[in-house]
Amino acid sequence: MRTARWTAAIALAGMLGVDAAPAAAQGTLNLYCSVQIEWCQAIANNFQRDSGIRVNMTQRGSGETLAAIRAEGQNPRGDVWFGGTGDPHLAAGEENLTQAYESPNRTQLHDWALRQWEQSGRRAVGVYAGAVGFGYNTELLARKGIEPPRCWADLVQPRFRGEIQVANPNSSGTAYVIIATLVQLMGEDQAFAYMRQLHPNINSYARSGTGPIKAVARGETGVSLSFVHDAVTERNAGFPVAYTTPCEGTGYEIGSMSIIRGARNVNQARRFYDWALTEPAQRLGFEAGGQLQTPANRSAPLPPNAPDLSQIRLIEYDFAKYGRAAERRRLIERWDREVGSLPR
Ligand code: F6P
Repeated sequence: MRTARWTAAIALAGMLGVDAAPAAAQGTLNLYCSVQIEWCQAIANNFQRDSGIRVNMTQRGSGETLAAIRAEGQNPRGDVWFGGTGDPHLAAGEENLTQAYESPNRTQLHDWALRQWEQSGRRAVGVYAGAVGFGYNTELLARKGIEPPRCWADLVQPRFRGEIQVANPNSSGTAYVIIATLVQLMGEDQAFAYMRQLHPNINSYARSGTGPIKAVARGETGVSLSFVHDAVTERNAGFPVAYTTPCEGTGYEIGSMSIIRGARNVNQARRFYDWALTEPAQRLGFEAGGQLQTPANRSAPLPPNAPDLSQIRLIEYDFAKYGRAAERRRLIERWDREVGSLPR
């Protein structure tokens, strides 16, 4: 009888075009997602299928998501924030916009992912890592006779005039990692002098961190400052894209995940968090989304052709300092004043 009623309920739900009853029974999760849309959709669909929890997903850049969580601070609409660069997750933790959580699955993670968790007072955990570099369109540069960049010093050369694209740090976490990297490599005043010198070579400050590499793929710009895993994603999609990593050294991200303070669906948020750290969920970025970051779960393999971070000259990125809310705000405001507002 019970089975018959159940079957009838599912059939009715199907006729009405709504999800079957178990999803409603398990509740809802409001997921804020700052990786590429293909991966966001894959985790939303797979988690919904595995858990029976209905997922409402909103995809936005890391800086934009931090701004939204701040604006909603008194009345949180999101439950969990998956992905995006680590610095804004650390800033959110410091501003008490997220909450501590100790997942039993944390023992499956690499040390660098756990260090992020410890450093954030257990509010943000690493879910992947990736390095900054230069993406370029091999055909476009060859046609124009431009030698690809190998070093930060190359980018300010006149041969790249109007040829480079990077994102805007107000909306993009990638762009902030690039600023923090330059400051750590050169010292702050030198880094800002460098960015002012670079400005005439930049044709646009894009909203999203992956905008510039997509513009490279489409042949709209010769070079982008990007996470190099995103360059491989474009190459795998068939575009004439290659990358190099800066000879002087480069910065990297620990893409992170946090539960929002005051989350209305905190139990569902914790279930998602535990699930997202498992090996099968960690494989989804590549398997369902074509994404090539280094997974935080030790058992999840590095996707084929993904950049190997151990082969890249990485700086000792000071996450504690550059993830501080005041430092982040100060550097972005200085960028707005001294770089973003410069005439072309
Ligand atoms: O999803 C690709 C990616 O490069 C991530 O590795 C990174 O965390 C995110 O985009 C950053 O996006 P944005 O710069 O738009 O905040």
